[in-house]
Order: sequence, then C-alpha cells, then structure tokens
Amino acid sequence: EPLDSFTTTGGTDVPEDIDIHSTAGKLKDLKRRVAEVAHAGSERAVEKQHARGKKTARERLELLLDEGSFVEMDKYARHRSTAFGQEQNRPYGDGVVTGYGTIDGRTVAVFAQDFTVFGGSLGEVFGEKITKVMDFAMKAGCPVVGLNDSGGARIQEGVVSLGLYGEIFRRNVHASGVVPQISLIMGPCAGGAVYSPAVTDFTVMVDQTSHMFITGPEVIKTVTGEDVSFEDLGGARAHNTKSGVAHYMGSDEDDAIEYVKALLSYLPSNNLEDPPAYEVENDLEVTDLDRELDTLIPDSANQPYDMKTVIDHVLDDGEFLEVHPLFAPNIVCGFGRIEGRSVGVVANQPMQFAGTLDIDASEKAARFVRTCDAFNVPVLTFVDVPGFLPGTDQEWDGIIRRGAKLIYAYAEATVPLVTVITRKAYGGAYDVMGSKHLGADINLAWPTAQIAVMGAQGAVNILYRRQLAAAAEAGEDVEAVRQRFITEYEDTLANPYIAAERGYIDTVITPSNTRMNVTKALRALRTKRETLPPKKHGNIPL
Ligand code: HXC
Repeated sequence: EPLDSFTTTGGTDVPEDIDIHSTAGKLKDLKRRVAEVAHAGSERAVEKQHARGKKTARERLELLLDEGSFVEMDKYARHRSTAFGQEQNRPYGDGVVTGYGTIDGRTVAVFAQDFTVFGGSLGEVFGEKITKVMDFAMKAGCPVVGLNDSGGARIQEGVVSLGLYGEIFRRNVHASGVVPQISLIMGPCAGGAVYSPAVTDFTVMVDQTSHMFITGPEVIKTVTGEDVSFEDLGGARAHNTKSGVAHYMGSDEDDAIEYVKALLSYLPSNNLEDPPAYEVENDLEVTDLDRELDTLIPDSANQPYDMKTVIDHVLDDGEFLEVHPLFAPNIVCGFGRIEGRSVGVVANQPMQFAGTLDIDASEKAARFVRTCDAFNVPVLTFVDVPGFLPGTDQEWDGIIRRGAKLIYAYAEATVPLVTVITRKAYGGAYDVMGSKHLGADINLAWPTAQIAVMGAQGAVNILYRRQLAAAAEAGEDVEAVRQRFITEYEDTLANPYIAAERGYIDTVITPSNTRMNVTKALRALRTKRETLPPKKHGNIPL
C-alpha cells in the first residue's frame, strides 16, 4: 500500500498544509475537525430547514441549555456502513448531536436529531450515540431531553436501525420513574419512532412544524381510503386536543423549549432527590385575595365557576404550569409551588362538561398523579365532580378499566396527598378523586361541599318514585312535591358534615382559609414516609 494512504482518516483527507507529525499540526487538524463537526449538514439543507421555520439541532440546543454549558459527546462518531455507496458520505456526528449541559444550573443529558444530515434518520451509530447519552443520564441521575426531527429508520441500514430503536425503547422504559424524560417533537416523527417519545414523561410538539403518526396519510389512503392531511392526522393540534399524545403545543420552537425548561424546574433530577425548593414562608393571615374565594361558589349547584380561580389563589404568585391544557379540559392538571416547593395540582373543572370524569380525564389525571409520585412531587386535589360521564361511547371504550387507572394512581401514590372538596363529590367519583379511603393524608371540605351518593335530583327520582307517581295521579303539583323532597335531601345529605363526622374529611374550612390550611398540611407532610408492600410490579389496568 502506498504510504500516503495513512494520511487519510476514514475517508477524510487531511489537507496538505497540515503536518500531522508535529504537535502544532495535530492541534490544527483537531481545529479543522471541530469546524467540520459544526457544519455536518450542507448549507442547502440548513437553508431548507430555516425556510420551514425550523431551527437546526445546534440552534435548538443553544436555546434549551444555559449559555456555554453544552458539552458534546461523540462528535467524531460516524457510520461504518458501506451499503448504497454510503462510504462516500460519512459526516461527523452521523446526524444527531448528543451530550450534556445545564438548564437553570442543573445537569441534563440531551440528544438533538439533525434533520440536515441524512434527514435525521436513525442508523446504527446515530442510535448508539443516543443510547450512550441515555446510559450516561442514568448513571449521573439527570433528566434526558430528546429533540426529535427525523425521517425515521435509516433505510440503507435496515434492521440494524430497527435494533437501535429497540435499544432506545428499552432504555426509555428502564429510565421511566428514575430520571425525568422529556421529548420535544420538532419535525417528523413517524412509524415506530413515535414510541420513544410515547414512553417518556412528557411530549411537547410545535404547532404546524411537527408531526407524529404510526402510519402516514398515504398509507391510510391506500388501506382505508380515508383522506387526511399530515396536519389533521398527526399535527401538534391533533395530538394536543384529540389523542392526548402530546402534553403541550408550543406556538413555535422557542415557546416549546421554554415550556420544557419550566417543566424541569418543578422536577427533581432523579427519583432519589426532591424537586428544587426556594426558601419562601407563606403569610398565614387571611388576605383580601383569599377572601375572594368566599364568594366563588354560586348558590345554584348547577351553575359553573372556574376552578382555576381556586388554583390561582392557593399557589405561590398564582403561577401554574398546566400539563395537557388542551386535552380533557374537564380535569385540570399542572405544576405550581406552595412555599417555594413543587406541587402537582389535579382539579375537576366545572366549566367543562360540569367537571364530569370521562375516559380522557381519568387517564390524563392518572398519568399526572403517577408522574408526581415517581418524582416526589406532592399532589393537591380540588374536587367538584358530579360523577362519571354517562354514555355508550364511554362504556364501550372502556371507562371501567380506564377510569380504574385513576384509582390505581392515587392508591399507590406515597407522596403527600392533600384534597379539598369545594362542591360536588358524588358517587364513585368521590372515592376516585383523592379520597381519604384511597390514602389521602389531609382531606378538607368547604361548607359548600356536597358529599353523597348522587345529586339531589337523581336521588329524589329514585327514592321517591312511588310518591311522585302518586302525587301525579292525585293531580297534585308534582314539581312542587319533587322540590320539597329535593330540599329535604339537600338539607339532610348534601353537605360535608356527614363525611366529617366519620373523619373522612379532616375539617370543614372557610374557602378563604384554603391557602393557609393547604400550606400547613404540606408543611407537616414534608417528612412523610410511606412504603407499599414489596412486589415485582403492580398490574395497573391498561
Ligand atoms: C435515509 C432519509 C430518510 C430515511 C429522509 N432521508 N428519510 N435517508 N433514511 N428514513 C434523507 C433523504 O433521502 C434526503 O436526503 C434527506 O434525508 C432529506 O429528506 P427529504 O425527503 O428531502 O425531506 P422532506 O421533503 O422534508 O421529507 C421528509 C420526510 C421524507 C417526509 C421525512 O424524507 C420521508 O418520507 N422519508 C422517509 C420516511 C420513512 O419512510 N422512514 C422510515 C419509516 S419506518 P438528501 O441526500 O436528498 O438530502 C420507521 C420505523 C422506525 O421509521 C422503527 C421503529 C421500531
């Protein structure tokens, strides 16, 4: 072999003006390689990316991480594939930028798929870089944030690429509940590739520029004849409002990235740590702001009010980061702080479907409660629930097994659980919504609470069916008779005191005292410890 073949490294010629036999030359050669790493994607590809309103992988990481904190790993990694002439094109990095950096000073591991290189498609080396950074995160006990923008499995690398996807999925599962995992979808994410984000704790999409689907519009057209656009099928809005696959829709990439940073601020780096806490001491005197809650509940039980008003009045500075804001709005989930410490809020929303529980709401809240429990975030529940949503749709889609998830989530949670019943807590939904019986630590009720098997209307129709029929036959004013029974029922059963008599409610509080009572409860529960019986794992109904 001619000697000069040794001056080439894997197909990249060292330019003649660099003498790699001297130290100065070696440093110059490194500098050249560093520059090559930064420009792995062609200018044309970068322009195309920008023209679509998308940033490059490196630009995104710059926005996500604290300035100057990014440390890149495996920047000189490149594929070893020789199929389809691939040996001619071996850009550094192989289409994914990986490493670690900090967000608000705390370490996170990251990978950012680079659509400008091989369409961000995942080959062997690309996959190995991701699994390596995930393994690093598990050892370091830090969150993983994945930025997805990819044409999927790298076609030239065939099954090897599928194997690497599987390696990633397995790590996602093993990391679940150990370190927070967040997926940003910032371009295409299709086929089996969607299952990595699906396993992670949160999926954030960008309006108009991100898509997720198992099978695309063309396949759907061929198989079912259905016509659907990319956007309608798997755009950010579809997954935020219809499927619940995504937890937040960023109006643009910056907004999506800001949301991820905010999410992380409420979470610990791993399951053995507590979330970051700020030294704040709540003033426990009732303020004018607190007193606004005393007039919030309408006199009529059928009139809605905004549960977010209650949430805003209890959290520090009224700051509330909603999770799944566009999905199942009949239940509200999100993070806030009380005395500077993270708390997860779950609340029925009387403004939407009267706050009934349906499949989507149950699954949304169950997932959220489990996320909080996995990461040592106490759960604060506000209850105003008339029951489960009736209907064949709900029954046949499995409200029984799917609603059960919420029971499961509350009952297995060992973090502090504080529940406040503001108004209705009827039937099975009373039990489900963080009741004492499922293991809540402190249960409070407002005097407006109605804790009963069902609402007065329904109860009277069942209990007094014969009396009402007799009244009708006798030509009496049935509505007046019904109203009398309703009043009697409400006076007797639709209050918090029967539950309080039994200790199911620890105390009945004036609404304006809610912030003070919740603060005291969470203070007392800071040292809570509870363990469940050892087992391999539970069998949550899925
Ligand atoms: C190899 C790929 C690629 C892929 C894109 N590229 N996808 N190379 N494997 N999967 C390359 C293109 O050849 C092109 O290279 C560059 O990336 C940019 O792609 P374009 O097509 O020019 O971009 P655009 O028009 O924006 O279209 C994006 C796209 C399209 C919709 C993602 O590229 C596409 O349909 N790709 C194939 C998607 C796919 O079928 N993937 C496999 C699915 S199965 P040049 O050199 O021309 O710039 C799968 C399963 C996952 O992913 C496994 C789960 C277990």
